[in-house]
Amino acid sequence: MSALIEARNLVKVYNGVAAVDDISFYVSTGECFGLLGPNGAGKTTTIRMLYGFSPISRGRLTLFGQDIRKHWRAIKGRIGVCQQDNTLDPDLTVEQNLLIYAGYFSIPAAEARARSAELLAFFALTHRKDAKVMELSGGMARRLILARALVNRPELLILDEPTTGLDPQSRHQVWDKIAALKKKGLTVLLTTHYMEEAASLCDRLMIIDHGKILVEGGPEDLINRYAGRQVIEIEGADASLRTYLSDHGAQLDDLGEKLIVYTSGGSDLHRTIQEEFCTERCTFRNGTLEDVFLRLTGRELRE
Ligand SMILES: Nc1ncnc2c1ncn2[C@@H]1O[C@H](COP(=O)(O)OP(=O)(O)OP(=O)(O)O)[C@@H](O)[C@H]1O
Ligand SMILES: [Mg+2]
Repeated sequence: MSALIEARNLVKVYNGVAAVDDISFYVSTGECFGLLGPNGAGKTTTIRMLYGFSPISRGRLTLFGQDIRKHWRAIKGRIGVCQQDNTLDPDLTVEQNLLIYAGYFSIPAAEARARSAELLAFFALTHRKDAKVMELSGGMARRLILARALVNRPELLILDEPTTGLDPQSRHQVWDKIAALKKKGLTVLLTTHYMEEAASLCDRLMIIDHGKILVEGGPEDLINRYAGRQVIEIEGADASLRTYLSDHGAQLDDLGEKLIVYTSGGSDLHRTIQEEFCTERCTFRNGTLEDVFLRLTGRELRE
């Protein structure tokens, strides 16, 4: 697979402060790549450089093998973008939003109408095509934003938090659509705060914080490396258990009232905790990407 996106030592400085601070990564053709990180980590800033909205401060960024500084116009035509905010025109109808957008890419009117009809059907919006955007629910609006991003038949789809604020039904529907598009060969780059979304959709992902990359890898790989396959949550752990864990060099997070112990599962450590220390206040579960995220970025609130 060839690299569709290649970023080398990418930097974005705002008012003397690096919002994206020397990051290097690639995205291969046909893969779904996730960009994760707490609020303010630099995800949107990175994405804005990728689609040529925000000039890069330093480094090198190529898409489709072309330098973004020189070829941003050509690159833009091959990308579909869903921005973090709702950028639909509220005064226009659902269908008009697609047709006007198609105009930006100089798509002939008949072709634009055909594509709109196809996309409205794909996103289950045909019955609302004459509705005003402001009459749509949040889920429908998000589906329309996705449809609009596909009007120019992009090879790369960039999604900045595509499911934030949606109910579980709408979120699953959007996931199904993204998975279907990926199956058709579309390359997808997405940001999300839903770890379940990243784990199920992304082939690879990276977690960034304060503009820097913390880790990069496949979801399972990251879980095995930074959390462990099995997690034991222990409430009110007594001194003997704490001593045992410390003596055996257990990987754990101590939240005071609660201990979170990360194990590889099936180990002696895991068995001993289960058999000798866990009476009632233990919960056993699989390690998740959320464990990885919290272990690497901490539990403190961000502004
Ligand atoms: N146009 C701008 N001018 C100045 N600073 C900015 C600008 N855009 C972003 N920043 C700053 O850059 C940093 C990264 O912001 P960014 O929007 O990329 O974060 P994010 O990871 O997308 O966060 P969120 O999860 O909240 O969307 C923040 O400190 C933010 O205040
Ligand atoms: Mg953002």
